[in-house]
Amino acid sequence: MAARSGGVLARQVGALVALLTTSLVAAWMWRERTSASQLHPPAQGLQKAPSGSGWFLTTGDTLHVVFTSDGSPYCNYQTLALYGSFRLARRLPGGHKMVGFTRILHRSVDDALSPLLSTFRAQPRYPVCDGGKAVAAKDRVLCKYAVADRPAAVRQFLEAARRDPGLIQAPWLYLIETDFLFFKPVAAPGPAEGAARPLGYHYTYVNAAAKIHTALMQRYYPAGLGPLSDVPHTGPSPVMARVPEWLRVVPRWELYTAQIESDPQAVKSLGWVREMFAFSLACAVERLELELHICPASTLIAQPPVDLRLGNATQFHYTWGPKLIEAGNKTPFWRFEKREWRAQSFEDNAPMRPLPPPWREGWVTPSGRVGPQGAPTTKEDYETILLEVTTFNRGLEEVGGSAWKYVLGQEAAAARAEQDQLQGVG
Ligand SMILES: *[C@@H]1O[C@H](CO)[C@@H](O)[C@H](O)[C@H]1NC(C)=O
Repeated sequence: MAARSGGVLARQVGALVALLTTSLVAAWMWRERTSASQLHPPAQGLQKAPSGSGWFLTTGDTLHVVFTSDGSPYCNYQTLALYGSFRLARRLPGGHKMVGFTRILHRSVDDALSPLLSTFRAQPRYPVCDGGKAVAAKDRVLCKYAVADRPAAVRQFLEAARRDPGLIQAPWLYLIETDFLFFKPVAAPGPAEGAARPLGYHYTYVNAAAKIHTALMQRYYPAGLGPLSDVPHTGPSPVMARVPEWLRVVPRWELYTAQIESDPQAVKSLGWVREMFAFSLACAVERLELELHICPASTLIAQPPVDLRLGNATQFHYTWGPKLIEAGNKTPFWRFEKREWRAQSFEDNAPMRPLPPPWREGWVTPSGRVGPQGAPTTKEDYETILLEVTTFNRGLEEVGGSAWKYVLGQEAAAARAEQDQLQGVG
């Protein structure tokens, strides 16, 4: 009996909690809708006036690349290769549409890259985690998931851009991550004043309607808002959207991230990709419909070794590093694995990644698609993997390789001198 009434009580408490949660969600949603709409510039379709006095650019098909970083050697090494690859892609046909490139650094002080590459510095949640350095045991849990800093960092960048619209030099803002490489210029989905939907990537594993997630997701996306199938299978990167669309979705992405971080059950069941769910939920609530594609149809990324045919991709996302193994052996004889690049020396010396030996028959490439036993590495697979690594190395070369501080320093000094001359100073 006691157990039964305990069960009834638990159900009643559960229902009450659900009701309270739903009302709280509704309350902050209403509040946020109000404040989010206040973030919009009051008029649409205006051309941007010069920096400091105008609106965001709302017409045309140029784009501005942004990405977040914690300023760790791990991110900075990747950033150098990314920046170089962006500069190289800009020089290819169509590259002139990529007009801006800004790093959003969530760190309480500048880092070695700050004076050398366009950087907006945002306040981090926890300054103790600055630069991804080793921290005392008591702080480790705070610093474990730097990803949760991203929405607040992007929000701070957008707030700064509201004060100075010149911070964003194009109508389309394209959010990526440090582990991207451009091997071709990326294009906007169309003129911003047209009907083109913003672009994103379809991640099958971000599935709010999956059975294992429904109970949790219904708390975050109550039935009154619509079915869980409304929640797109995506994440904040890569996403190319108009500035007002970002202004709508980012505050809610930040709120969902905070809500998830404070919910141990959500942290546990959504794991490392929880911030992708936060973004997808934010899109659903804001009714921001993204055009989502997967490789090879996507014009955004390919992710070797899961994708070994590039199709329409223009960038690599090397979150899964390709490996090459002799069939029948377990140990890779070659790999391109970002998780091995955490030491300070990677930032300081920007070493080129070793290339695989020339292709031969008899190798296998394991991947999330075919499993750890791997599938035979064809010549074409090999060429894709080789292109990924050479794009990384060429990117580093473009910014000076191990002399990047000197080379980018000279460029920055020359740019300052030119600026001073234009303004009639000195
Ligand atoms: C690549 O884009 C073109 C033009 O939009 C399209 O016709 C083609 O089907 C796409 N390729 C793939 C593999 O989806």
